[in-house]
Amino acid sequence: MVPVVDLSRRGRRLAPQFATLAAQVASSGSILLGPHTDALERRLAAWSGGMEAVAVSSGAGAIQLSLAALGVGAGDEVIIPAFTAVPTASAVAALGAVPVCVDVLADSACIDPAAIGAARTDRTKAVVVVHLYGLPADLPQTDLAIVEDAAQAQGAIFDHARSAAVTYSFYPTKNLGGIGDGGAVVTADADLAAQVRMRRTHGMTEQYVHEVVSQNFRISELEAAWLLLSFDELQAGNERRRSIAAAYRAAAPGLRWQRQHPDHVYHLCVFRCDRRDEVRSLLHQRGVATAVHYPLAITRQPAYVDIARSVCPQAERWARECISVPCFPELTDEEVQTVASALSSIDG
Ligand SMILES: Cc1ncc(COP(=O)(O)O)c(C=O)c1O
Repeated sequence: MVPVVDLSRRGRRLAPQFATLAAQVASSGSILLGPHTDALERRLAAWSGGMEAVAVSSGAGAIQLSLAALGVGAGDEVIIPAFTAVPTASAVAALGAVPVCVDVLADSACIDPAAIGAARTDRTKAVVVVHLYGLPADLPQTDLAIVEDAAQAQGAIFDHARSAAVTYSFYPTKNLGGIGDGGAVVTADADLAAQVRMRRTHGMTEQYVHEVVSQNFRISELEAAWLLLSFDELQAGNERRRSIAAAYRAAAPGLRWQRQHPDHVYHLCVFRCDRRDEVRSLLHQRGVATAVHYPLAITRQPAYVDIARSVCPQAERWARECISVPCFPELTDEEVQTVASALSSIDG
């Protein structure tokens, strides 16, 4: 069976180098926010074209801290797309703010910029735009602060100064995937970066003096060391993902694929089909595992259904129809061929 993702392949490749680094970290006594974290932040800053970068404990934490630094708090509203991973919503809710869902575009699965105006109230403080599956989303023209949730889009965003902040997740399956949890805030705004940095450690400004209420969003040195190793492979990995996706699209041009974009980094390679169960089982019979990212729009999630204000038909349709097929750099050419040939047999 060709797996949707198999982290052990990358893990085996990086394990020998990581073993040395892990021993260094353990014997250094610098376990959290140490030299590897500093080096990771410098690497992120250079990679993003000279931005400020703050490494944190998760992608959700990166969104939460960016919004907090923008002044979002209890009772405020933040507009988000109705089709995304739940952490986009929970990062807002963790601040006591209300995630207000708007619909997504039928072809991109990303926020519909035209829907933002109608969802805006005098409590609205920000918009989170999600670059879903690795596709650079259209940014809205708005005077609201924008946070770009690029958890799934490392390498797809070149201009990190278009919005207030760009946030990343280093969850192990991500294109730049960690050996544990991790995330980062990348921003052109030095004050915002300083706020995030302070809030990363319980809002502490000097030893045991706490300026604002916050929690623990520290990243571990082991994670930072691993990410520095993986960074060297990010660009080639993204190129491999693009070529895998291109092979699938060429083999099955009649399927309803997510919108194309030259900078798409294919964290996930997704098409839509209104006979999802049947098609998944056909692919399974041909030796291809599939997954569903995600089966419910945020407006249908039990934890968020009560705060949904509008129906979001495109989000619900994506949730009903999306199918993710295997797409990660370590797939062999033979496996790619197996998937491509199975896809070509499907009647879109
Ligand atoms: C779109 C999106 N936003 C936010 C997150 C949250 O990242 P993390 O799991 O690192 O908190 C994820 C990943 O899970 C994600 O896919």
